[in-house]
Amino acid sequence: MILITGGAGFIGSHTAVALLNAGYEIGILDNLSNSKYESIRRIKQLTEKECPFFEIDLLDYLALDRIFCENKIDSVIHFAGFKAVGESVSKPLEYYHNNITGTLNLCRIMREHNVKKLVFSSSATVYGLAKVVPVTEDMPISATNPYGSTKLMIENILNDLFVSDNDWSIALLRYFNPIGAHKSGILGENPNGIPNNLMPRICNVVNGKMDKLTIWGTDYATHDGTGVRDYIHVLDLADGHIAALNKCNKDKGIFTYNLGTGIGYSVFDLINTFARVNNVNIPYDVCPRRPGDVASLYADCSKAEKEMSWKAKLGLEDMCADSYKFVKKNPKGYEDSK
Ligand code: WQD
Repeated sequence: MILITGGAGFIGSHTAVALLNAGYEIGILDNLSNSKYESIRRIKQLTEKECPFFEIDLLDYLALDRIFCENKIDSVIHFAGFKAVGESVSKPLEYYHNNITGTLNLCRIMREHNVKKLVFSSSATVYGLAKVVPVTEDMPISATNPYGSTKLMIENILNDLFVSDNDWSIALLRYFNPIGAHKSGILGENPNGIPNNLMPRICNVVNGKMDKLTIWGTDYATHDGTGVRDYIHVLDLADGHIAALNKCNKDKGIFTYNLGTGIGYSVFDLINTFARVNNVNIPYDVCPRRPGDVASLYADCSKAEKEMSWKAKLGLEDMCADSYKFVKKNPKGYEDSK
């Protein structure tokens, strides 16, 4: 069994569908603190396959150990963690406890049960205020907020774990900006509360939850003055996890990969593409820069292509069309689905 922690979340649920459709046996572990059981139901609806669901918190060491005692787990894909940058600044202790202690519990129990294949959900946020783009995996890493610090610390913990025992196979996946949704419109990004990120906020504008978008900064040194990011379709990201799992099944070691498209798009690029593809209007106003934002961050993904034969296939138009299809089918998110 492949255990997916945080498998009820946005990227976790799409990865679960991809794994089930590829014939893998999976189990989903999630405490539902930032997701809903409805996504588990939709995973089963889309794949017509059953998979065990464990409503467990990684902070509950004994409950987590029992899962490993009662199930034959071969590898773990570890998504579970708090992930809101702004929230992490106001709640650092909660972020360090949840993300770091949760991961330490998981790794200790994996070691006790001799489960030594791990794919970890890291983030491009570890590149901090990158001075050069596109970024490669060997560039300097740093953190500009507690959320980013947890990702950086966990990467260091996993590197030290491998040094202590070379029998491990560990993939550190640095995601850029995941957006989009499953082509069916049944699975998508279902943030609790008011989202922080650009695409879910654009979606809130088109489904009436917000009357207009705020563009934070138009004075960056980019082609149109707005922030440039590497947006990657969540379906490509899911496939990247399968590629990383296969790499861990083949080789021992610790491997770090950028998962992006290698293309940087600005805020205006995204707004204009979304409006054109979906034939909608996105009203906005312009405000000063958001503290902590960088002007431009996008990936060099050649290492993932070379070592895992993985490359993103879907473009910005697909990301915009698929995000829109999901929000139109689920105007109030999962809990209000028809
Ligand atoms: C993208 C661009 C904003 C909202 C964050 C996390 C990162 C990762 C992905 C987890 C920026 C601009 C945004 C809005 C705007 N998450 N923007 N108006 O900040 O690149 O990355 O999410 O791993 O860790 O840092 O993504 O979508 O918040 O912002 O103008 O209402 O859109 O200034 O230029 P970001 P984002």
